[in-house]
Amino acid sequence: MKLFDVYPLYEVTPVKAKDVFVYDEKGTEYLDLYGGHAVISIGHSHPHYVRRLSEQLEQIAFYSNAIQNPMQQELAEGIATHSCLHDYRLFLCSTGAEAIENALKLASFHTGKKRVIAFNNAFHGRTSAAVAVTDNAAINAPLNQQHQVTFIDFNDSAALKKELQKEDVCAVIFESIQGVGGLDEPQAEFVQTMETLCNQHQACLIADEVQSGFGRSGMFFAFQQYNIRPHVITMAKGMGNGFPIGGILVHPDIKAKYGLLGTTFGGNYLACAASLAVLEVMEKEKLQARTLVLEAYFREKAAAFPEIKKIKGRGLMLGVEFDFEIATLRKALIYQHHIFTGGSSNKKLIRILPPLTVKEKHFDQFFQALRSVLDEL
Ligand SMILES: Cc1ncc(COP(=O)(O)O)c(C=O)c1O
Repeated sequence: MKLFDVYPLYEVTPVKAKDVFVYDEKGTEYLDLYGGHAVISIGHSHPHYVRRLSEQLEQIAFYSNAIQNPMQQELAEGIATHSCLHDYRLFLCSTGAEAIENALKLASFHTGKKRVIAFNNAFHGRTSAAVAVTDNAAINAPLNQQHQVTFIDFNDSAALKKELQKEDVCAVIFESIQGVGGLDEPQAEFVQTMETLCNQHQACLIADEVQSGFGRSGMFFAFQQYNIRPHVITMAKGMGNGFPIGGILVHPDIKAKYGLLGTTFGGNYLACAASLAVLEVMEKEKLQARTLVLEAYFREKAAAFPEIKKIKGRGLMLGVEFDFEIATLRKALIYQHHIFTGGSSNKKLIRILPPLTVKEKHFDQFFQALRSVLDEL
C-alpha cells in the first residue's frame, strides 16, 4: 500500500535523535533548528523524558476518561505553577487543531453565537472550524467554508469594533506571534483593545498558544507579555516534546458541564507523563529564561549580516527575513550544511524553532553555514 501523498518531503530519513541533533540511517548528523514544527521543547530523547515515559509504560499507558486519573490533576498543577494562571481550568486533548476546535466550540456554547473573527495570515490547524479560521483558501474545503468567519488585519481596531457591534460574534481568535504566517505580532494596544471589545460585546477572546506556548517565547505563554486574561488558551506542540498532547485552559467565567467536551485519547497516562517530564526539565534546566539569552545572542550574531532584513519573533520562536525568496537557501542549509530550518507563508523568511536546550555554539554553527551559503548564492 502506498501513502496518501500530501507532504512534499526532504530527502532525509532520521532514525535517531539526541538533544538538538537528528541522525539519518548513514549516521549523518543534522542540527535541528526547527524542532519538527516547534514540537521538540526539552531536546530529542531527553534522558528524564525517556525514563518517565518508559516507567509509565510499564505501569499503565491508557484508560479512557471514565476513571480517576490523578496525573491529569498533577499536570494541571504543573501548568498553573509555570503559567501562574491558577484559577483557569484544564481540558486535555491530543493535538493543536483539536485544542482549537474545543476552544471555538466552548466560545460558541458560552455565548450562544456562531461567527468568529480571525486575522489575516493566521494558521490554526486543519480540522473543521480550525481550518475555517485559518487564512488559506487552498486548504479550506467547501465543507469547512460553511463556518461563519470574518478575517481582519492585526491592529485594525475600527474593523474589529464594527464586526463586534453586530453582536453575533462568539470568539476572536489570535496568535500572539503568528507561526506559519511568518512571525508577525499585534501591537500591545490592539491586544488590550481586543480584550476590552470582547468583554463589551460578550465575545470570547481565544489566545492560540499552540506554537508559542510552553516557554518558547520567553514567557510561559506569549500573550502574557500583555495584561490580558483570555477566555480560552490553546496549547499543544512543545507540551509533550513529541508525544501527542494538546489542551485548553478555560477562564473561570466559563462553567463546565458534563458532556460539554470530550475525547477518547486526551489526557491519557503516557501523554500526562510526557508533559510532566517537559515541565520538570524546563524547571530544572531553567529553559524558559534561557530562551531570552539565546534570542539576544541570535540577534547580535544576525546583526553582522547585511543580507538579513529583519529578525522577527521572540525567545526561540524567531523569523529571519531576507529580501529574496529563501527556498534555495533552506535546501543548501539542509543538504550541504545539515541544518534543519523552517519555512512559512512569507516566502522570504526562515523560521528558527529549535529545542529550548539549544546553545550559543549551535547558533555559531548556523551563522557560519549561512555565511557560506549566502556567499555562494
Ligand atoms: C498556532 C497554531 N495553531 C494550531 C495549530 C494546529 O496544530 P496541529 O498541527 O497539532 O493540529 C498549529 C500547527 O502548526 C499552529 O501553529
